[in-house]
Formats: sequence, structure tokens, C-alpha cells
Amino acid sequence: MIRNSDISGAMTIQLEETLNQLPQMPEFVEGIRRAPSRSFTLSPKETELALKNALRYIPEKWHPKLAPEFLDELLTTGRIYGYRFRPDGNIISKPVDQYNGNCIEGKAFQVMIDNNLDFDIALYPYELVTYGETGQVCQNWMQYRLIKLYLEKMTRCQTLVVESGHPLGLFESASEAPRVIITNALMVGCFDNHENWHRAAALGVANYGQMTAGGWMYIGPQGIVHGTYTTILNAGRLKLNIADDDDLRGCLFVSSGLGGMSGAQGKAVEIAKGVGIIAEVDYSRIQTRYNQGWIRKIVDDAAEAFSLAKEYQQKKETLAIAFYGNIVDLLEYAVRKNIKIDLLSDQTSCHAAYEGGYCPQGLTFEERTELLRTDHAKFEEYVNRSLRRHYELIKSMVDKGVFFFDYGNSFLKAVFDAGVKEICKNGKDSTDGFIFPSYVEDIMGPVLFDYGYGPFRWVCLSGKKEDLVKTDKAAMACIDPKARFQDKDNYIWIKDAEEHKLVVGTQARILYQDATGRTNIALKFNEMVREGEIGPVMLGRDHHDTGGTDSPFRETSNIKDGSNIMADMSTQCFAGNAARGMSLVALHNGGGVGIGNAINGGFGLVLDGSERVDSIIRRAIPWDVMGGVARRCWARNENSIETSIKYNVERKGLDHITLPFIANEELIENLVSEAFKKDYLKQKFSIT
Ligand SMILES: NC(=O)c1ccc[n+]([C@@H]2O[C@H](COP(=O)([O-])OP(=O)(O)OC[C@H]3O[C@@H](n4cnc5c(N)ncnc54)[C@H](O)[C@@H]3O)[C@@H](O)[C@H]2O)c1
Repeated sequence: MIRNSDISGAMTIQLEETLNQLPQMPEFVEGIRRAPSRSFTLSPKETELALKNALRYIPEKWHPKLAPEFLDELLTTGRIYGYRFRPDGNIISKPVDQYNGNCIEGKAFQVMIDNNLDFDIALYPYELVTYGETGQVCQNWMQYRLIKLYLEKMTRCQTLVVESGHPLGLFESASEAPRVIITNALMVGCFDNHENWHRAAALGVANYGQMTAGGWMYIGPQGIVHGTYTTILNAGRLKLNIADDDDLRGCLFVSSGLGGMSGAQGKAVEIAKGVGIIAEVDYSRIQTRYNQGWIRKIVDDAAEAFSLAKEYQQKKETLAIAFYGNIVDLLEYAVRKNIKIDLLSDQTSCHAAYEGGYCPQGLTFEERTELLRTDHAKFEEYVNRSLRRHYELIKSMVDKGVFFFDYGNSFLKAVFDAGVKEICKNGKDSTDGFIFPSYVEDIMGPVLFDYGYGPFRWVCLSGKKEDLVKTDKAAMACIDPKARFQDKDNYIWIKDAEEHKLVVGTQARILYQDATGRTNIALKFNEMVREGEIGPVMLGRDHHDTGGTDSPFRETSNIKDGSNIMADMSTQCFAGNAARGMSLVALHNGGGVGIGNAINGGFGLVLDGSERVDSIIRRAIPWDVMGGVARRCWARNENSIETSIKYNVERKGLDHITLPFIANEELIENLVSEAFKKDYLKQKFSIT
């Protein structure tokens, strides 16, 4: 029989806070947002299991004290967060050299983790939720402490393995191998659904990493501003006949959500020079964006919101307005008064609609939180009813010429789940997609991802603003604004980035770039580190990228060869990045569209100025991007074919992408229609 004393004796790394005395329960600072209850649904046996699971981090002598405490958390919040183990006060990332560690990567990832939990950045900092309603750094505070301990101990010859937030351990690897490998919520196919996920999360065995939260690469809403700016600008170019060198002056963009990612909308519309009204039910989130200067007016009356918008549209001046209220109420007014909206979208957290991500019409934000806690079934009813009304309003506007697009928040899927079958192209299920466009399928996919342009980002680990300023300038010098209109947009973005005051938390920057741009910038930064011009830098990207994510209704929605339901690309991207020596690799289930709807991965690469890192950049960065372009090319996406042809020439002898031969449409159509006319086919497949 194994004794707990044997177990303790066999671990040289364990929570120091449990050795002599337990930490005090931290104070919950007033005004800091708290996650709603995730609903307790476990059976008695499962509840026992959840408690035993959480107590695995704790020596037996503390079990009588902590078991009731954990049970209370589970019953009231639906999860065991281990609040007692949360460090007191705010968690703020420090300059990298102030962390303990045996290698720069071990210290650098502590900077990233802390930045993801900062009160100013995280959505629900006490519940380890960084953004996207449910996206967590890890599941509980015991894991947080243990991960940090492992990062302190880790050497250049070891790899830390993190499975759904749980640090499985340190294992010997090689100096050229990743220092951290993370997976989140990867569920076995037949169990890969919301119900099983909910149970697994309550049991403490599954973490929802969203995209960058569970990969520790979130950099605050700035990470999204650039993508949102590009999306709405290109939506205007596509649908409002705006020229490639023009902006959104005089146009009205209406959407909802001022949360983690959606909070970027106000700022993005101002950078694109348009007028935006963003509905938000939670006043605290409006306040956050207002204090940041990302929202310039707050109104709680729909008539006032639209009249203010009209005034600024007419003046051709830009303005970001927050409407404090429900988006459905705002749209009710617009439809009733026949108000012209140019671009319409939605960024409520519909990927988790029934977990509180979507506040139904008829409930205030506070009532929504209360109903979630007291009567989940009734809450679902409210959500469904509201989504159906929301859809009717959008439909009537689209019929009058408004351009509505899904913003990758699973809105269309949520409407379908609420019982609206007509939202599907085939009128019965989502196999053939939805009747409204989605921002990747129609905008970002063809304009950006197919060329390899994606959300490249970096963090100056010194925490110094001057380092960020230097990197901005260096990155700008690497871009040729005359190459493509996308390059011009990116050039303008980085030129004005500092002026837009986008930094929240650590000194970070996002800059959409293609494979060549990313590689050149990375090499330049590493050289600057080597020459002592700047401190070390963490490179990364959003998982929402050319090759990082397989998501049929989002990142891979413009892949039309039938392979959009496959997850090979993101898995290969993850494995390939590990093989080429990225410092951290991560692979997650879910992301912005919810469990079972996507597989997504990303990386972190610490630039320490070494030649070793130069060679990792040269082999890993092009792969990270071009793996995605190659797959899009194989799906016959024209812009990707063009990009791959060029790549094959430039990288002759090093890389080689398989290119697709294009079948003659007429030949195929005629052949198939002839075949379907023949009796034997009719009989064989019972086609009537
Ligand atoms: N911005 C992007 O580039 C991007 C990309 C892909 C996906 N998304 C998706 O967008 C969604 C939002 O992300 P987030 O990080 O901002 O989430 P979040 O949960 O932090 O913010 C959503 C906000 O919507 C508000 N809200 C909910 N229902 C509302 C309603 N009916 N009316 C008005 N406001 C309402 C909430 O109060 C919350 O502040 C997620 O599903 C995410 O996956 C965003």
C-alpha cells in the first residue's frame, strides 16, 4: 500500500505553501469582475471524484481543512479554483530578470502567465479567466503555483508538460526542443461535446484554453484591435465599394460586446475612421474601455446613440459610442426607425451562450448572473428566445441591404441551436454552412490568411517602453508598403501604433505579417537583442491564424475542398513547431467557437540574441505560416496558390509545396450531370 509520506518523499518539487502552513484566504478586491457560477451538475459520486482530484495537489494533513472548502467552491461556482492559493492582491508581470529561473525561457513564461492574470487584462482574474468568458490560463491556483515552481526549476535540457492546466512534470529533452508543451481540453472524438466537457471541467481534468489564454500568449485587447481594424476596413472595401487606399469615413458600424476581444471594436472603428455603436450590458466593461480611451461616449438611450452617430457620420469624423444595454434592444430601435447601418456584427460570447456569454433580451446583466445561478433551464429558455428575436431583426435589416457578418463568436451556430433552422444554407443542418457570411470566410480568409498574413505579436520582456518603441521602428523598416495593399495597411498600423496607446499590461505589440515579414522582423529583433539594443523578446501569435486553427465556421471557413472538418493542419503546425524548436507550443480544443468546434494551436519563441535562436527563426517561422498557406493552396484557394508558387521558387532546394492541378469546371459539371441522368446511377443511389 502506497503511503502519502512515500509520495511526498519522492517529490522534490511540490507546493511550498502546503509544507508548514496554508496560505491565508486572499481578500477579494471589490470591483474586480467575478466569473458567474458555471452550474453545479455533478452526481454525489462525481463530486467525491472532483474533491479527490483537487486534493492531489495537497498533502494529506490539510485534507480535513481543505476538503470542505473545496466542496463549498464546487457547489457555489461549479468549479474548484482553490482560491486560497491565489497570491494576494493584483498579479502584475515584472521585468523578466526579476523572476527566478535556470533558463531565460523559464523566466519569460512567468512574465507571460502573470500578464495573463493582471486585473487590467484578465476578464475574471480570480477564476484565472483571461478572456472569452471561459478561457483560462489553467484550472486552479494550485496549478498556477506549481507551474511557476516548475518554470523556476526548469533547465535548458528539460521540457515542462502541461495537460489542461495540470503540470504533469519536467522531462529531459534537448536544448533545441521546446521548453514547454501545452495541450488544453483535447477530448476523444465521441466524447468531444459540451456535456462531457462540462463534466470534465467540473471534475478538474479539463481546461478551456480559448486560444491564447491557455497558451499564455494573450496581450490584452490590443491583440485583437489590428485584426478587427483590418476586418471592418476590408468589409467596407468588399461591400461598400471603398477604395483600397480609402477608409470608413462616414460609415456606421454596429456591434455588441466590450469584453476581452470585443473591447477592441471601439478602438478599431476609430482607427478605420468610421463611427461605431457597440452595445454592452455590463457597465464595468464599458467603464474599462472608456478609461482606456477606446470608447469616447457612453449612452443608454438608443435614440441618442443613433443621433450622435449620424452627427459624426455627416461630419465625416470618427467616434466610438458605447450603448449601455442589450444589442437586441438597440436593433429593435434601428429596425423600428428604419435607421441605415452600413456594417453590422455581433461579439457577444456566443461560443458559451448558455454559460453566461450571451445576455438575453429582457434581463439586465445582474439579473442574468442571478438567473444563471438559480435556474439554468430558465436561463437557456431566455437565451433561445432572445437569439431568435436577434436573428429576425438582423434578417430584416439584411433584406434591406445591411451587410451583416458573423464575427467568429459562434453567433450563427448559437442561433441554429436556439431552433432557427432557416439560418442554415440547406435549411436543416450546418453541414453546408449558414446563410450569412462570416468574417473569415468572406473577408480575412481570402484577403489575409490565404497569403499568410496573420496576427504576429511580440512582448518586450524587459517591460521597458523604450524597447517597444525601438521594436516598432525596426519592424516598420522591414515592411515595404508598396508590395501589396495589405503591406500598406500593416505599415500604417505600425507607424501609428504608439500614438494609438494600445498597450495594456506588459509592453507588447501586434502586427499582421506574412511568412517573409515575420521571419525578417524576428531576425532583426534577435540581432537587436544580441547587440544589447533591447532586452529579450517573446515572439508569438494569436492561434487565429493562417495555419494555427482548424475551425470549419471560422479560420477554415474559406476552405472549400471538404477538408474544413479536418484538424490535420493545426495539429501538424503544432508538431512542426515543436520539431523546429519553438520555446513553447500549445494545442487546444475549442477556442473562440466552443468545445468540439475547433482545434487550435500557437507558439512562443524567446529571442535571447543567440545564433541558436536565429536558426530556429529561419526554420520554424516560415513553417508556422506556410504550412497553413500550403493547405489553403491544396484547397485550390487562388491567393494561396499564387503565394505557394512564389515560395517554391524562392525556397528552391529547401522547401517544396505540392500544388493542385485545377480541373476544368465545365468538364466536371457536364460529366457529372450526364452521369446522374443515367438510369444505372439513379438505381444504384436511389436518386429520384
Ligand atoms: N474580436 C475578435 O477578433 C474575435 C475573433 C474571433 C472570435 N471572437 C469571439 O467574440 C466573442 C467575444 O469575445 P470576448 O473576449 O470579447 O468575450 P467577453 O465575454 O469578454 O465579451 C463579450 C461581451 O459581450 C457582452 N454581452 C453579452 N451579451 C450581450 C448582449 N445581448 N448585448 C450586449 N452585450 C452583451 C458581455 O457582457 C461581454 O462583455 C467570443 O465568442 C470570441 O470567441 C472575437
